[in-house]
Amino acid sequence: MFANLVFRQLFDASSSTYTYLLGDPRTRHAVIIDTVFEQHLRDRALVGELNLKLIAALDTHCHADHVTGAWMMQQATGCRIGISRRYQPPVEGADLPLDHGDRIVFGSRHLDVRATPGHTDGCVTLVLDDRSIALTGDALLIRGAGRCDFQSGDAHTLYRSIVQQIFSLPDACLLFPGHDYSGRTVSSVAEEKAHNPRIGGDADERDFVGFMENLNLPHPKQIDVALPANLRSGRPADGKLPRPADWGPVRQTYAGLLEIDPEWVAEHLEQVHVLDVRQPQEMQESLGRLAGAQLIPLNELKARLSEIPRDKPVVAVCHAGMRSGQATVILRGAGLERTANLRGGMLLWSQLGLPTQREHAGA
Ligand SMILES: [Fe+2]
Repeated sequence: MFANLVFRQLFDASSSTYTYLLGDPRTRHAVIIDTVFEQHLRDRALVGELNLKLIAALDTHCHADHVTGAWMMQQATGCRIGISRRYQPPVEGADLPLDHGDRIVFGSRHLDVRATPGHTDGCVTLVLDDRSIALTGDALLIRGAGRCDFQSGDAHTLYRSIVQQIFSLPDACLLFPGHDYSGRTVSSVAEEKAHNPRIGGDADERDFVGFMENLNLPHPKQIDVALPANLRSGRPADGKLPRPADWGPVRQTYAGLLEIDPEWVAEHLEQVHVLDVRQPQEMQESLGRLAGAQLIPLNELKARLSEIPRDKPVVAVCHAGMRSGQATVILRGAGLERTANLRGGMLLWSQLGLPTQREHAGA
């Protein structure tokens, strides 16, 4: 089913939020849905690594439990920001206002917008063109439904939204929710119709409303921060981007590692401290080493952290960039925040013809 679709589901553990990336594999046009501010570098790295051109950062609704990464994504990629036009006041910064019946096109694929209010006024469910996938936001959760007790929520409205707009999709349509707190990732229309304890089986509107009005949920812990921020599409109050590394073009990979390009390091060698974490015998091999590099094998790094000078950013290097990636994790854990992995290690360094020092025998 994913032959003609790039599809990724990402998870933010602190808010239990799912983010979705959908793309057209041919044109590489893509949309990202329900981003989380703190996960911006992760999401942006994935968009870059998959070579996707982001058309829009969409939100299924104005969230109360996390801050959207939409504004950050727009700053980074120039994409549009899409959210329901039904919020009053309108969400600041949204230049792709959505409503029922709208179509969001990415390459040869598209999402149809279905208004599914009830959890909030502006909730939408995004349905893939062939109706094989629906992103339900917080309207319908796996074996649950979004709470209706704040943000102008209304359980009667939500009941009708789910029955008319989500349960009317084909039984086989896969449902991907905005959150899950129990490790569930995907359901289907048939599955929720049968097993959803709030609205499945024979539950009617009265049953659903009675259930929803007696949930007694605690106040969302993030709401006081998240709501005002989300009304600005996630733009920080001071309008400034979070500060990137102050010493060089450091990038966070999808794996969460900080890395830096060899060309930059070659040009700025005197500004950084190079830490080579290969084994001593590897120094004799043909790849050589970077001038001035300090040698501490990875397996000795934790015990020898005090030997590393702290006056310069540390660039870790190894043969191919794997062990040095691990070294950066150890270094950051030890408080050396200004650190990055040399992308591609000595292998890429030498392929690029960048200068090395050969180890003299016995040295
Ligand atoms: Fe929500």
